[in-house]
Amino acid sequence: KKVVLAYSGGLDTSVILKWLQTTYNCEVITFTADLGQGEELEPARKKAELLGIKPENIFIEDVREEFVRDYVFPMFRANAVYEGLYLLGTSIARPLIAKKQIEIARKMGADAVAHGATGKGNDQVRFELGYYALEPDITVIAPWREWDLTSRTRLLEFAEAHQIPIAKDKRGEAPFSVDANLLHSSSEGKVLEDPADDAPEYVYQRTISPEEAPDEATIITIAFDKGDAVAINGEALSPASLLTKLNELGKANGIGRLDLVENRFVGMKSRGIYETPGGTILLAAHRGIESITLDRGAAHLKDELMPRYAELIYNGFWFSPEREMLQAAIDYSQAYVTGEVTVKLYKGNATVIGRKSPYSLYNQELVTFEEGAVAYDHRDAAGFIKLNALRLRTLGSRARKISE
Ligand code: ARG
Ligand code: SIN
Repeated sequence: KKVVLAYSGGLDTSVILKWLQTTYNCEVITFTADLGQGEELEPARKKAELLGIKPENIFIEDVREEFVRDYVFPMFRANAVYEGLYLLGTSIARPLIAKKQIEIARKMGADAVAHGATGKGNDQVRFELGYYALEPDITVIAPWREWDLTSRTRLLEFAEAHQIPIAKDKRGEAPFSVDANLLHSSSEGKVLEDPADDAPEYVYQRTISPEEAPDEATIITIAFDKGDAVAINGEALSPASLLTKLNELGKANGIGRLDLVENRFVGMKSRGIYETPGGTILLAAHRGIESITLDRGAAHLKDELMPRYAELIYNGFWFSPEREMLQAAIDYSQAYVTGEVTVKLYKGNATVIGRKSPYSLYNQELVTFEEGAVAYDHRDAAGFIKLNALRLRTLGSRARKISE
């Protein structure tokens, strides 16, 4: 058997690597992606080599541009948030990792793929729905659901027995679990498990606290082209560089922190601390440019579809016909979502303070309180209101009759 493992280079996936070699007698191929998690990738190569992986079986790829261009940006066109608040930073990265693993499996003639997600979470679902959608007959190995290394002690014993190096700070139990990429950091579990307790400040890793943020606001301008951000303060940037820049600005202004209790697809509630500095600014700015470029009907329909679309991504259905159908509608809506938004960043807030577009539907002539506007006649409003009131008046008179 040949298996492509999503390998971070950390202790857990190193144990998985060894376990696949020893228990399944597999030839292991490692895939390590730079998704902007802010970790060096070369140590992962060294570690894989050390664990006996042949150089030709080690795949390391910088996928940051692809991640932002083909996953994050399409999702932001929808203004997607799960359960009103979560910007889906982990959810949106899983389909890309799954796709890359399948591509490598095909190239290398591997018949299996493996991941390091636990048996209790969303990530196992997202990885595996991705694998099956792209390669229907693939064998999936999910070590956390199969092995008996169910305690930290046993995991460490296994690591020691197989000469897996253990970083000093990994001896003790990690205080919580982290997943990070260019869009967000997510922290869950352990010290965060009781939702009644405030998260300790040391949990936050990519934002300063709003209290620490500068007293002076930072004003930026973001340019959009067909729904995607393309420049900051007049400087054209690639998708990944743009998000990186927004992350820096958000971090410095304490923007994008979220403490959330959410409903996992597998049925339980979980509590997470999220930091999405750049994404939070981007969402505000995108809504800002849409506010002048989208018609009301299109805008409201988008807002109705959004929770469904967000749930599909959260539940792991990125590669599904229903997600693609919604995406087509969302992308269609973005044809004129082009222009510039000015955003004020100040102590945890990203506030839109200006927007303009060559395709603006905003008609000052129409809306002004001053005299003007040819297309709008005040007298039309009287009939408009009367007809709309008809039902309400009928109901009102019935209510009066009943109470008499
Ligand atoms: N609850 C988030 C989601 O389902 C994040 C999951 C991964 N986070 C982690 N700290 N292990 O998308
Ligand atoms: C995990 O269980 O591996 C992380 C949390 C999740 O997938 O929801």
